[in-house]
Amino acid sequence: MSNRYLSIENVDMTFYAKGMESQVLKGIDLAVDRGEYISIIGHSGCGKSTLLNIVAGLTKSTSGAVILDGKEVNSPGPDRSVVFQNHSLLPWLTVYENVALAVNKTQRGKSKAERHEWIVKNLEMVGMGHALDKRPAEISGGMKQRVGIARALAMEPKVLLLDEPFGALDALTRAHLQEEVMRIQDELGNTVIMITHDVDEAVLLSDRIVMLTNGPSARIGEILDIDLPRPRDRIALADDPRYNHYRQEVLRFLYEKQRKVESLAQRRGAVGEKEKGEKQKDEKEKARA
Ligand SMILES: Nc1ncnc2c1ncn2[C@@H]1O[C@H](COP(=O)(O)OP(=O)(O)OP(=O)(O)O)[C@@H](O)[C@H]1O
Ligand SMILES: [Mg+2]
Repeated sequence: MSNRYLSIENVDMTFYAKGMESQVLKGIDLAVDRGEYISIIGHSGCGKSTLLNIVAGLTKSTSGAVILDGKEVNSPGPDRSVVFQNHSLLPWLTVYENVALAVNKTQRGKSKAERHEWIVKNLEMVGMGHALDKRPAEISGGMKQRVGIARALAMEPKVLLLDEPFGALDALTRAHLQEEVMRIQDELGNTVIMITHDVDEAVLLSDRIVMLTNGPSARIGEILDIDLPRPRDRIALADDPRYNHYRQEVLRFLYEKQRKVESLAQRRGAVGEKEKGEKQKDEKEKARA
């Protein structure tokens, strides 16, 4: 058994549905140190969320184990908080109440006043101290995502699990939130596993990038150590040869080694659909004329 803080040991995952079985993950082994920032990257559908859900305890692996701080993970728990791509705030609660719900569950040792202070502190940390009484419908997508992050941090998890946390945001908001996550990470030293599709995001934020091969039966193809000093500045890094080297390594893995090869049948199908669409368009135009 590994003595790392979090270890994913020989995890396999096979789903059974309608008499069919499909193996999604095969032999996933990963050991994570306390305070490490790990990104998981891989093509759509390869099994990234499945792996994160196994670590979260939301999905039970077919075989293998996840050990966190000496204990096996078998179910969801407050020591692992998850931020999903689309915020999962309760719409009838205010920003404050959404975080309070998690804090009241996980911070029972704190007095009422301490809990209040803690909720406000975490919301201030993500720049949402001004919107405590707003409901999710009254704030932007980026703001909702900030509240989701504040809620996850307020639980003081041993591991923060982020499933494409900035995926639904515009580029500017995304960059801003990445900066904030880096600042918070510098301050708190959380252990983080983040799924992303964004190569720059992975290089900018991570200590290591774990690259999954294409499914079915996805494995860890390569692990890239990102040896760049912190704090990291995206503008300065844009001209840094090491940064560009790391970026290229990930791009090479995704687009050369793990290029998605469309099958001939799929391509024929797509051409067939295109021809069908064009024929329908011609017929409509003829009818209009
Ligand atoms: N509960 C389930 N039952 C059956 N199959 C599932 C289930 N959850 C996921 N899968 C399948 O497992 C595979 C991996 O899915 P997963 O959501 O982990 O991919 P992903 O890498 O996160 O993709 P994306 O980048 O698009 O989010 C897919 O083929 C998916 O259809
Ligand atoms: Mg996913």
